[in-house]
Amino acid sequence: MELNVDILIVGSGVAGLYCALNLDKKLNVLLISKGELSENNTYLAQGGIATARNVEDIPFYIEDTLKAGQYENDRKAVECLAEESIDNINKLVELQVPFDSNGDELSYTKEGAHCNNRIVHVKDKTGQYLWESLMNHVKKLDNVKLMEYTCLVDLIVKGNTCYGGILRKGDEQINLYAKSVVLATGGIGGIFRDSTNQRILTGDSLAFAFKYHIEVMNLEYIQFHPTGLYDNNYYGKRFLISEAVRGEGGKLLNQKGERFVDELLPRDVVTKAIREEISKSNIPYVFLDISFLPREFIIGRFPMIYEKCAQIGIDITKDPMLVIPSQHYHMGGIKVDIDSKTSMKQLYAVGETSCTGIHGKNRLASNSLLEGLVFSKRCAQSINQNYKDIELVTIPITVDKIDIRYFQHENKQLLKKEIQRRSPDLHDELFDNR
Ligand code: FAD
Ligand code: SIN
Repeated sequence: MELNVDILIVGSGVAGLYCALNLDKKLNVLLISKGELSENNTYLAQGGIATARNVEDIPFYIEDTLKAGQYENDRKAVECLAEESIDNINKLVELQVPFDSNGDELSYTKEGAHCNNRIVHVKDKTGQYLWESLMNHVKKLDNVKLMEYTCLVDLIVKGNTCYGGILRKGDEQINLYAKSVVLATGGIGGIFRDSTNQRILTGDSLAFAFKYHIEVMNLEYIQFHPTGLYDNNYYGKRFLISEAVRGEGGKLLNQKGERFVDELLPRDVVTKAIREEISKSNIPYVFLDISFLPREFIIGRFPMIYEKCAQIGIDITKDPMLVIPSQHYHMGGIKVDIDSKTSMKQLYAVGETSCTGIHGKNRLASNSLLEGLVFSKRCAQSINQNYKDIELVTIPITVDKIDIRYFQHENKQLLKKEIQRRSPDLHDELFDNR
């Protein structure tokens, strides 16, 4: 089967949806997701979205981002992120994201390595509320068609230009031609043994990058969040205990009940300290305690975390949580410029699958959702400026049916091999080797 559209967006997280919202309404757009539309990391986001508080805060926000990234960041991209943050948050308010507020002013919380309170949030369910607001608006657009359970299994490429993609939906395989393709396929947590990510996120876009020699960057920079909930579950998706818990005063304690690290240092530093503490003890976790805060505050501010812990028998208003570092985020990805253009013509990448260079070696807390907003909008603006000069070309191709399971398995192996080649410290036992 063959189909033609103007723009194909692959991914229904913050980056894919916000790109769709910012595209010219004259464009005929198809947006696909591999699983259910809501099965993405955006929906899971807890802590919030970082933003400069005001114009005076921009240089401080830039410096915090660079420092957390160990100054390996792309400075121009970081400036763009900070300078465009306020406008994008205002846009979200306009789109009715129900951010927590104190009267007329948004409520800003603190997270690790930020020099002041600059994270907007909706309790501990920021991602769910953000996603629902964006999706409600996308669904109202006549020019955007949504297709779930539809997997991009290959790109249609000639020379160094992208002409569309090959999609599998159930038994059907579709050759989809487009003037531009936007990859918004998210992270790679599904290739790890345990991760806070949705398991279906296996870095599929990176497989296309390897196949067609599209430039990639910083592939070996993987972020391990300090505080995944320890629940004896060796394989699979680990529930996250938001950094905002530490931002609100939560303390990390070792087996002896002693503090061992400043909880608000950058994530890589806190993760390292926890791993060292675990290796010195005879238990596979450390404790995170917030029980000294008022009960009503804890339940009101962290309802999802309270519920989840209660399900496994921990009342966080009385007892500490058991936590362990877990794979969380991929700083690396497909190399893009500040307009989200990849090294292949007519191919863009946005959100976690892209590498703008913003995060350097270690992402500053809550900078991912903002990156998804700022750079997917810039991507849409670039497409809006250029699409009139691009012709839709339906180059004839015949492709055998691609087996999705085989495609997934091969991708996971290939990506693991590439990451380990660049960083041998990432041992086999960290990965999903089943
Ligand atoms: P996603 O939202 O993950 O969406 C990826 C999409 O790509 C999905 O729709 C998927 O179906 C689709 N897809 C993938 N492969 C294919 C394919 N082959 N074919 C078709 N579709 C495909 N960041 C913050 O800034 N603040 C936070 O508070 C925060 N909390 C987090 C909490 C958790 C538990 C996790 C896991 C992450 C958190 N992050 C947070 C990180 C942030 O949520 C993600 O980095 C961000 O949401 C990624 O957005 P995205 O649009 O790039 O990808
Ligand atoms: C969290 O709530 O700790 C996640 C924030 C992030 O990943 O930036």
